Amino acid sequence: MSDYILAIDQGTTSSRAVIFSSSGDIKAMAQQEFSQHYPHGGWVEHDPDDIWRSVTDSIAAVFAQCELSIDDVATLGITNQRETTLIWDKHTGEAIYPAIVWQDRRTADICRELSQDTSLTEHVTNTTGLLLDPYFSATKIHWLLENVEGARARAEAGDLLFGTMDTYLIWRLTNGQSHKTDATNASRTMLFDINNQCWDKHLLDTFNIPASLLPEVCDCAAEFGEASEAILGKAVPIQGVAGDQQAALIGQACFDKGMAKSTYGTGCFMILNTGDTPLHSANRLLTTVGYRLGGEVTYALEGSIFMAGATIQWLRDGLHLIKNAAESEELAKRARENNGVFMVPAFTGLGAPYWDPDARGAILGLTRDTGISEIVAAGLQSVCYQTKDLQKAMESDGARPTTLRVDGGMANNDWVMGFLADILGAEVQRPEVTESTALGAAFLAGLQAGIYENIEDIRHNWREEQVFTPRLTKAQRDEAYSGWQESVARIRCKDY
Ligand code: G3P
Repeated sequence: MSDYILAIDQGTTSSRAVIFSSSGDIKAMAQQEFSQHYPHGGWVEHDPDDIWRSVTDSIAAVFAQCELSIDDVATLGITNQRETTLIWDKHTGEAIYPAIVWQDRRTADICRELSQDTSLTEHVTNTTGLLLDPYFSATKIHWLLENVEGARARAEAGDLLFGTMDTYLIWRLTNGQSHKTDATNASRTMLFDINNQCWDKHLLDTFNIPASLLPEVCDCAAEFGEASEAILGKAVPIQGVAGDQQAALIGQACFDKGMAKSTYGTGCFMILNTGDTPLHSANRLLTTVGYRLGGEVTYALEGSIFMAGATIQWLRDGLHLIKNAAESEELAKRARENNGVFMVPAFTGLGAPYWDPDARGAILGLTRDTGISEIVAAGLQSVCYQTKDLQKAMESDGARPTTLRVDGGMANNDWVMGFLADILGAEVQRPEVTESTALGAAFLAGLQAGIYENIEDIRHNWREEQVFTPRLTKAQRDEAYSGWQESVARIRCKDY
């Protein structure tokens, strides 16, 4: 019986195709990067055809690498960079403009102006769980309709469709038959009412967006359409979809309230399962849909930090202190303990919970005996301290994470994970399969396909590789963390 699952992970800088066995093991994986376009300062765009090619090439490459063929695949799951916004013509499939990427800040002025209206900012937060910010899709759609010639008239005539990357891939894989998204991706558009699980009329009116543009919102495990035989060599049902950070929550089997995952890529996204009621943050964390299964919504709190792996890249490419990420672990082990050196990597400001775009980075506490090891260790530790900031923000919102599961590149660094456990004062669990995002999409598709009976079944397929337990006393932890807090306070531009 064919019960392999193909997962597509369409990320910000590359697309991957991963084949999983039903027990959640990776059978083969292929990845292709694509170009980033920066036409103006603060603008970031992707060519949708590049994205499509990176996906189809990755699928071809993944089968070329193993003994399996598409005939062995029962179902397809998709996970994706969230918020990135594309509008295309529903008759020709042609995009009206490149995809505007989540990092793009071109609508900052619109957001600033609209933020003067406190009843609107409150409505945004209460309805969507988000902050009125260019990060999300709503003002990007607005910008496209206002600035691309003829777009508004075509949208009003019902000729255009909007989608995040999941929707675009579903539409192309099904030859234009299916215009759908899932509740997690919808929850990042700033147009979706997360309480009532529907598009919000007031926000559509505010941003002047015709409802005909919007995809149908489904559960994360659902029938999203059939990927065409002409494209894949066999018709395969698309049965699982989630935005990448939520997919990682599922791939990490964080199905209980209080369970959290942190994904360490360029930046870090920490998501905490808060159960069946949306918890609004007093610390500028985002309230979002964790997943929706069988019509039941599980909500989550999300905090993001901008510089995780990117700090290591800077140590490597900016300062040339290390040749590769692995070397950072060796150097950090040699650093003097309690050396008092802190690095605050606010290269592009500080994310949650500070949201201080004007803060800039610093290395503090240098003495004559500070060497490369201490600076590298401080860079690695900064990622842990920032995770602690998120843990504390969640805690003060009344939702203390009870379990933290880690994934992404830096999760493989034992020294960092050990320090993370120390500074959090909590266990850190690393899974066998750290491709949690793709695994989450695979779990969802497998659930809909009947490969897994229920989420308990999925839970049994999550396997721990290593647990890191805290070694510091509370006093030692508090002392280290207060050094970090003092360092952050010294580089802040805005009071928090
Ligand atoms: O919200 C943006 C996030 O989904 C992007 O994730 O992994 O593609 O950088 P990634």
